[in-house]
Amino acid sequence: MGSSRVLVTGSSRGIGRAIARSLAEAGWQVALHGSHPGKDLEESERAVGNQAAGSYAADLSDPSRADSLLAQVVADGPLHALVNNAGVYLPLDFTGASEAVFETNLRKTFAVNFEAPVRLIRAAIPHFRVQGGGKVLNVSSRVGFKGEAEPRRRTRLAKRTVLRDRARLDGDRDGARRHGGSARRNPGRNPSRANGDSR
Ligand SMILES: NC(=O)c1ccc[n+]([C@@H]2O[C@H](COP(=O)([O-])OP(=O)(O)OC[C@H]3O[C@@H](n4cnc5c(N)ncnc54)[C@H](OP(=O)(O)O)[C@@H]3O)[C@@H](O)[C@H]2O)c1
Repeated sequence: MGSSRVLVTGSSRGIGRAIARSLAEAGWQVALHGSHPGKDLEESERAVGNQAAGSYAADLSDPSRADSLLAQVVADGPLHALVNNAGVYLPLDFTGASEAVFETNLRKTFAVNFEAPVRLIRAAIPHFRVQGGGKVLNVSSRVGFKGEAEPRRRTRLAKRTVLRDRARLDGDRDGARRHGGSARRNPGRNPSRANGDSR
């Protein structure tokens, strides 16, 4: 991609750092981001090497920081792509949590996972227009589409899935049905059911 520059949010560790490294290997200049400065961001800078094009700290649990983050990034150079990867997963006893804990969890989850990415996209579009185009990649979770099962239910699902797939592999059609599935040999068409993992 020549000298195109991309901002990868949440690239101070985890999947974001891996995305940043891959994009750097593909020739992108990568603007790194984390919620705070420190050794994680420095480690990502090392991982990206010469392709690092800025390192930015902004806590997106205050979504208004998204606008100042984007402004800082474009002040340092052109921007051709945005990867909205920063995200939080905050376990919660949905019905048992106090109102205060529930409220805090809800606000932070929506701020970081939804509102900040929307604001970043909105702030990036005018810069993309000036350059004749841009790309946005939003990293999400299957939980956002299918919901999250309770831990005990997840364990039950996982156990049932193992028994069902074992029966399929053995050609035991009745066994496969008994453990909750059709007798199909290839459970891959619905991976959410196939692996019992709800993320
Ligand atoms: N891991 C999985 O199994 C999985 C599954 C489905 C979807 N995802 C999605 O993939 C993305 C990355 O996941 P991951 O597992 O790599 O997460 P991770 O290791 O927990 O890293 C999260 C990244 O987001 C940043 N971040 C968190 N809170 C922030 C905040 N308030 N403000 C700014 N940045 C913040 C973190 O920065 P700091 O370290 O500086 O706080 C970090 O760089 C997320 O959007 C997640 O929902 C992950």
